[in-house]
Amino acid sequence: MKWTVPKIKALKGGQKIATLTAYDYLTARYVDEAGIPLVLVGDSLGMTILGYETTLPVTMDEMVHHTAAVSRGVKEALIVADMPFMSYQGTLEHALENAGRFIKEGGADAVKIEGGAMRVDLIKQLIANGVPVLGHIGLLPQSVKETGGFKMQGKTDESARKLMDDAKALEQAGVFAIVLECVPSELAQKITAALTVPTIGIGAGPHCDGQVLVFTDLLGMGHGHVPGFVKKFADLNPQIQEALAAYKKEVEESAFPER
Ligand code: KIV
Repeated sequence: MKWTVPKIKALKGGQKIATLTAYDYLTARYVDEAGIPLVLVGDSLGMTILGYETTLPVTMDEMVHHTAAVSRGVKEALIVADMPFMSYQGTLEHALENAGRFIKEGGADAVKIEGGAMRVDLIKQLIANGVPVLGHIGLLPQSVKETGGFKMQGKTDESARKLMDDAKALEQAGVFAIVLECVPSELAQKITAALTVPTIGIGAGPHCDGQVLVFTDLLGMGHGHVPGFVKKFADLNPQIQEALAAYKKEVEESAFPER
């Protein structure tokens, strides 16, 4: 069964929505075959796959290239492409054109946009033009230069109120779900209860309607910093290193191939 936007929305308050990033055909096949309903081609690929220090250098061409590869590996999951830094902050026309590329060239089903009430006009335009939108509030990796780093958001009464207002504004604008990144668990619970669309948490506690993790973090592979809230469901780095070392040794000692 192909997951659609209405089917994801219908999960609100019911079965929790397992969401995972994927960056290429290889990872997309694994995620889709595991029955994960929502796959995010996150701009985190800048750090996990492309070796940048932040998500800021990621370009539209890189995102479309990776989204198309994910699309070739997915049969059932809903594919959301992350709009990269400066692909939607300029004119409406520029943002619409870029979002269109994800659908036409990348095969995505929807796009994700970072930001709250300030993105409402853009989100309404995208939805009116047939592009479903996943919202994203809380810690916004594309705003780290302004916020000063990867920090928990919504810890003061004022910032908690602002996040609640942002969530409601995004819902009214028509997003089909909202990512809550690094916000206190009790606040995520309140926002989740106040909305009719699902919340997808990352570092936001257990009360959201779904959870999202970065593919490499979940599997214990890769080279970057892993946030403290991540649960490693496997620890593949040592196994990969061991296999590569064994291969090197066998080639060097003429033990492989045997014939
Ligand atoms: O880029 C990404 O992977 C994300 C998720 C972690 C929410 O935005």
